[in-house]
Amino acid sequence: MTDRAEQQDRAMRGHFHHAAQQRGFTLSQAQHAAVDRLGRLAGELARSAWRLRRPPRHLYLWGPVGRGKSWLVDTFLDGLATPHKRRLHFHDFFRRLHESVAQPSAAQQDTGDKHQGAAVDRAVDELLDGCRILVFDEFHAHDAGDAMLVARLFRTLLERRITLVTTSNYPPTGLMPDPLYHHLFEPTIALIEERMDVLDVSGPVDFRREPRRQEVSQRFATGALLRPGQEAAAGLTPPGPGEAAPVAVHHRDLPARAVRDDLVWFGFEELCEGRTAVPDYLALAERFPTLVLADVPALVAATRDARQRFANLVDVCCDRDVRLVLIGTDPMTGLAPGSPIQRDLDRTASRLALLRHPAAASAAAESAAATG
Ligand SMILES: Nc1ncnc2c1ncn2[C@@H]1O[C@H](COP(=O)(O)OP(=O)(O)OP(=O)(O)O)[C@@H](O)[C@H]1O
Ligand SMILES: [Mg+2]
Repeated sequence: MTDRAEQQDRAMRGHFHHAAQQRGFTLSQAQHAAVDRLGRLAGELARSAWRLRRPPRHLYLWGPVGRGKSWLVDTFLDGLATPHKRRLHFHDFFRRLHESVAQPSAAQQDTGDKHQGAAVDRAVDELLDGCRILVFDEFHAHDAGDAMLVARLFRTLLERRITLVTTSNYPPTGLMPDPLYHHLFEPTIALIEERMDVLDVSGPVDFRREPRRQEVSQRFATGALLRPGQEAAAGLTPPGPGEAAPVAVHHRDLPARAVRDDLVWFGFEELCEGRTAVPDYLALAERFPTLVLADVPALVAATRDARQRFANLVDVCCDRDVRLVLIGTDPMTGLAPGSPIQRDLDRTASRLALLRHPAAASAAAESAAATG
């Protein structure tokens, strides 16, 4: 390593140390190993691009929910001096990709499959122009319909002269878990294993479930899970009859129960049982700092599609730091531990653990009063 690379490596470790100290974090062993590797990467990136025949090796960080992967990669990016850096969340990137693929230029219209490949390449080039390091957070591949698109996207990313750092809840071999479609993804898995250093960040603790720390800088964590009638506990007034209004989202309107300056209020039925999708949630998150979702059922009782939409909504709100207030039944009620439904909702449960649960607190108080 050159002096400059060593200096950047040390500076990055110092940056991590400082960031952890400021938040009162004790890093897990797995996080320490990741900091070492990310420090080394910062050193490698300090070398001028023209000197390198190829970019530094890509990194794939995976582990169960709440292990501090996103914190690691965000802190890493924050500590890099270069302006040629980007962070993209999987959902966001995918939305842009879909838009690009859905709107081919005239020249591309009759080229069928080739068009899709070219559109992916073009979208990646547009988004990443001049970028040397890309953090692609929370990568996953579940949707069989999107399998080919995701595969192409990943291949394109790995082929560009940028270094890709991605986080995922799945080891590469666990991507696209559906046995019906897994084989479609095997070439991508092989590529990931060949081109990326795979780092397991499986510490023992889901930090989102740790007793509440003082540091709650996230707006998402100021959200709540309320029973009907508890709205005032979150400083909310339920919508009046005249407040219902359409909200313009991605290419259409959705029926909201209330639209106020800083919040939008929906029913579960309208937002999750209707044919909405991630681009709609992203549009809401861009406009409203608070999203209230009423009449939330236990997810075991919802349709499969509604469960998936709800999980995506929670992902988007957490990533975009939207305050999410749920009113109704605790969505995780009645999920059998270890069931496939529960495994799919791991990410959601971990994120919802950040919300205040006045319902649970008052139930605990009631039961303590009854027994004591
Ligand atoms: N060592 C630590 N000690 C305490 N809290 C931490 C630590 N590392 C990260 N955190 C905090 O824990 C929460 C979860 O971390 P993060 O979002 O990075 O997890 P993740 O591994 O990306 O989870 P997921 O797989 O669900 O996306 C965040 O609020 C983060 O700031
Ligand atoms: Mg994450």
